[in-house]
Amino acid sequence: MGTADLQQQVTEALGQRFPGVSARFFQAPGRVNLIGEHTDYNDGFVLPVAIDRQVMLAARVRTDARVRLWSVNFRQSSGFSLEQIEPDSAAPWSNYVRGVAAVLQQEGFVLRGMDAVIAGNVPIGSGLSSSAAIEVATAVTLRDLSSLDISPVDLALLCQRAEDEFVGMKCGIMDQFIAALGQRGHALWIDCRSLEYEAVPLPSGVSVVVCDTMKRRGLVDSEYNARRRECEQGVELLRQCLPDAQALRDVTSADLAKYGDILPAIVHKRCAHVVSENERVLSAVAALRAGEVEEFGRLMDLSHASLRDDYEVSCAALDTMVDLAHKAPGFLGARMTGAGFGGCTVNWVDSEAAVEFAQQVVRQYAEKTGVTPEVYICAASAAAGEL
Ligand code: GLA
Repeated sequence: MGTADLQQQVTEALGQRFPGVSARFFQAPGRVNLIGEHTDYNDGFVLPVAIDRQVMLAARVRTDARVRLWSVNFRQSSGFSLEQIEPDSAAPWSNYVRGVAAVLQQEGFVLRGMDAVIAGNVPIGSGLSSSAAIEVATAVTLRDLSSLDISPVDLALLCQRAEDEFVGMKCGIMDQFIAALGQRGHALWIDCRSLEYEAVPLPSGVSVVVCDTMKRRGLVDSEYNARRRECEQGVELLRQCLPDAQALRDVTSADLAKYGDILPAIVHKRCAHVVSENERVLSAVAALRAGEVEEFGRLMDLSHASLRDDYEVSCAALDTMVDLAHKAPGFLGARMTGAGFGGCTVNWVDSEAAVEFAQQVVRQYAEKTGVTPEVYICAASAAAGEL
């Protein structure tokens, strides 16, 4: 299902649920991260791509302070007053909308009520950031309906805060940032400390292929938070030898080789992943710029091994998918993408063989696991905004 189908879905649903004249349409994309995993909350580097899967809102302003919502995917309504925003445990999807509205108001922005229907084709719980897509789609909708002046970077930061404070997931900035600032045909190299970014063109001749294991993420929140704590513990201990280190971003592999002995074994492994992953992102960006597509693929492979062995956030389904990719036609590189523990892999594939690659991976994964995966060739898409 593409953008046109989504737009038709929300148009029809709006007509049925909230009949009336004219509506405005807004979208935000999901993302796939090419490299730089579990680095964003360590002040590090990431290289995601906005994909051609989106969350879309069809919305119309109201004259009062009510927000009425209908979710096409969940076939459910939820409503609230902007004067008092509480979470709705019976409609958890609405908490992303509620959270963004609440945070915007906390920042002093004056919002107008709205009727809106929401539909998306970013698979949920698959590591493609459906949550950030709904947050950022909501934020651009509220911003534009209420004629607010908010930069895309601030919008991303506010959405991240909504996820932390209202949904209870203490995520980094990558997902919201790429949804708010992605560029068609480009990956975005983001410095998650300074929030400086650069669009890096994707080479022609190479396709980004997403393979969904269909295993929905489990354990994410608890394990994610545990990894964050281990990283913080690592920095704190390393500060004995590296007094200026504020985050793992400030530690190099040479530092870790020199001082790593002071770390407990598990913390050492976590730090080894983050430190090497940051270095791999820098090498990967250099490789992309130099047109070294094979080197880029090799760095993705190393990233997967590091996430599997040192950061321990992969799982059997992801490892199987990556192993099958290695043997498929056109393969250049593959790794798990997103938080881990299920979800998708991202593959770097020679475009001429991309269709064959997809077919073989689907067939072999189904034979091996009994589960038919969803595999698609992504187009690097534009940031959130009005259609
Ligand atoms: C999730 C978080 C991101 C990032 C990734 C791991 O997607 O939302 O901020 O930490 O996991 O790279």
